[in-house]
This record gives sequence, structure tokens and C-alpha cells, in this order.
Amino acid sequence: MLESDMISKIWKRLMLRGTSFSGSYKKLRGLYLQADPWQMSSDKEQHRFIETNRMLANLAPKYGSILELGCGEGHQSEHLAKLTNSLFGLDVSEKAVERARKRCVEGTFAAAELERLEEAFGARSYDLITACEVLYYLPEIPAAIEMLKSKTDLIFVSNYKERAEKMSQYFPDIEWHRLDDITYEDTVWECRYWQRREQST
Ligand SMILES: C[S@@+](CC[C@H](N)C(=O)[O-])C[C@H]1O[C@@H](n2cnc3c(N)ncnc32)[C@H](O)[C@@H]1O
Repeated sequence: MLESDMISKIWKRLMLRGTSFSGSYKKLRGLYLQADPWQMSSDKEQHRFIETNRMLANLAPKYGSILELGCGEGHQSEHLAKLTNSLFGLDVSEKAVERARKRCVEGTFAAAELERLEEAFGARSYDLITACEVLYYLPEIPAAIEMLKSKTDLIFVSNYKERAEKMSQYFPDIEWHRLDDITYEDTVWECRYWQRREQST
């Protein structure tokens, strides 16, 4: 490993310390002092994005609108933009959002916390909301999920397997349909979706 890669890895580890389930967004913002802190350009993450798009296209070939939570620098946005003409991306980091705007010119991006979604995009609803590798930074996950359900009929969630176990309490099987895991070498992501049930008359 190059010395610069090693330094960046150590720095990321330090910045991420204590961020899980805590709402320590200042630290997450700090990560973006360097470009692509999560290595979203890597083959591994690009594989995850392609597989996520494949699953989403199986649920519906096209979406009227998509809200991408935790869009970062727009790496996944580039993929999601193929499924909609109306992509909204939200991230706590202003720097990340600036880069996302350049990377994915089709999207509309805002820097805000998910908890302040309406301040960013107003009181609109979305055909699909994606929350990939993002909910485990929130201090109040059930409240966030309830808020998202009020904005859409379809939510897609993916969680890195090592976090998925702790997250599973928020996604009961009776409500959340389990999809295939995404696998890349020894990394696994668990995927689920929630869809509003049709009211029977
Ligand atoms: C691990 S990255 C995942 C990025 C992308 N969703 C993906 O799957 O590749 C998590 C992203 O979520 C953002 N984030 C974390 N908590 C957030 C919150 N409460 N509101 C908006 N964005 C958040 C972080 O800044 C970071 O860019």
C-alpha cells in the first residue's frame, strides 16, 4: 500500500470513530476535506451501485422521482439518474454536494441533514427513496424511517453486512422485503425494501 493511501486510511478511521448511531455529522463533514473519502470510484463500490440499480429496475423500470439520502459526492447518483428524470440528492456535507453537482449534472442536490429534509426540498413526495449505507449514522433511526414513509410509497435500504445485524431491528421482515445480498469478494451488503400496502376497500 502507498504511504499516502495508508495515511488516508488512518485518517478516515479516526474521523469515523464515534460516528455510528450518534448524529456526529461534523465528523462526517470533515471526511470530505479529502476527495472521495469512501473510495466510491473503486470497482467494489461501483459493483454495488450496478447491482443496486439492477434490483431497483426489477421493482420498477423507471421512477417519476428518486430521493437519494446520503448522496455523498454523487457516485451512486450517476447510476440512479439512469432510472429517473428527477433525481434529488441530500447529504450533510456541503463539500460533497458541490462535487455531486459537478459529477451528476442531471440531479438536484442540497446540503442538509436527513432530519431537515423539508427545509432542503420542501414538502414534496418521491416515487422512491434510497438510503444506502446512511441510516446507521443517525441517532434516531425509527423516527427517520417514519418520516420517510410519509414521503413515499417505496423505500430501498442497503446496509453493510457488519452493521446489518444491529440495524435489523429497524427492518422487521413482516414489513421489509429482503432482496438478494450484494457481494463483492469478501464484502456483503444486505438489501431490503418497504412498499406501502394497497388499502383494501
Ligand atoms: C457511507 S457514505 C454512503 C454514500 C452513498 N449513499 C453510498 O451508498 O455509496 C454515507 C453518506 O451519508 C451521509 N450522511 C450521514 N448521515 C446523514 C444524514 N443524517 N443526512 C444526510 N446525509 C447523511 C454522509 O455524509 C456520507 O456522505
